[in-house]
Amino acid sequence: MAEAITALYPVARARVQAMKEYHPPLGCRDTLRLDFNENTLACSPKVREVLAGVSAGSLTRYPEREPVEAMVAARLGLEPAQAALTNGVDEAIHVLFEAFLEAGDELLLPVPTYTMYEVYASATDARVVPVQAADDLQFPFERLLSAITPRTKIVAIANPNSPSGSVATRTQILEIARRVPQAVVLVDEAYFHFFGETVMDLIGTVPNLIVARTFSKAYGLAGLRLGLLAAPVELMRWVRRVLSPYSVNSLALACLPAAMEDTEYLDWYVGEVLAAREEFERALDAEGVRRWASRANFVLVEIGARHGEFTERMRAAGVLVRDRSSDPGCDGLVRITIGTREQMRTAVVALKETLSALRNEGARQ
Ligand SMILES: Cc1ncc(COP(=O)(O)O)c(C=O)c1O
Repeated sequence: MAEAITALYPVARARVQAMKEYHPPLGCRDTLRLDFNENTLACSPKVREVLAGVSAGSLTRYPEREPVEAMVAARLGLEPAQAALTNGVDEAIHVLFEAFLEAGDELLLPVPTYTMYEVYASATDARVVPVQAADDLQFPFERLLSAITPRTKIVAIANPNSPSGSVATRTQILEIARRVPQAVVLVDEAYFHFFGETVMDLIGTVPNLIVARTFSKAYGLAGLRLGLLAAPVELMRWVRRVLSPYSVNSLALACLPAAMEDTEYLDWYVGEVLAAREEFERALDAEGVRRWASRANFVLVEIGARHGEFTERMRAAGVLVRDRSSDPGCDGLVRITIGTREQMRTAVVALKETLSALRNEGARQ
């Protein structure tokens, strides 16, 4: 008889053992998706044409990113060596942290902010130093400056920030970069198209500035996983050492030129979202729902103690929204992505019904 084998499984690094698995609340999203700040409609029709023409033969080859990287760099006014395409901004964050964070280093993180900074930082041996925003959820500029130490190695700023929609000014970013010459200042411009302001033009002039952009939001390509990191060549050479040469797949590379060329579609979608945001904000005000001013394609609103029920009832009404209550300083807050005006009118109907049902129940209790 075969001897019983005692299973002995190797264990991960202590830091990884201490991490929790992160599962974004996806699943059954074939409805009005106002929960992940994606484009809620479609990518450019030009991209769909490219996809339709992809040959089976082209899929047999390893993807070649350099020519597309050079095209993107030229469009953004960068040198080819200053631009790296990534598998979404998530990979950009991951490789940046891998390349720069060592034991004893500190990552300064204004919070609340995008979840993945903390997830990837916690896999390194560096320490996350959260810098809490005040109740107005504005960018905590002064607090961030006071939190700088000689150990600060990365400052991660989502601009506009999620879930608040607030922004840091160019002057504030420049001042931070000046105060931490030993650290990388990452400005994550995932929502740039809705905001319209950038520090991309400073790449190479400010030695410690790195900018990230995504194609998951305004461009409507979240499923293709495409991000961009822009950095001075002197910093990019470290990033490229840890970046997989094939992490951006050939479908994504094939589609990117068409997506970037179709500025007409992009401008139309952004204009539509901005008009819808204004209209939706007016509806929130009419309902007496407290909201935070947003420069992105989402709005953070105060629902209060029944945030969970609100989110569930909206889901039942066919509208997905994102409960952000567990984010630091966000108790009772829910984030609602802005889609087209037509979609947001549907959302307003669901919102009014949900709020009225919650109020009536509250009155009866
Ligand atoms: C600030 C910010 N950065 C990055 C991302 C993720 O971008 P990507 O889809 O390119 O990984 C998000 C997504 O919600 C985000 O809010």
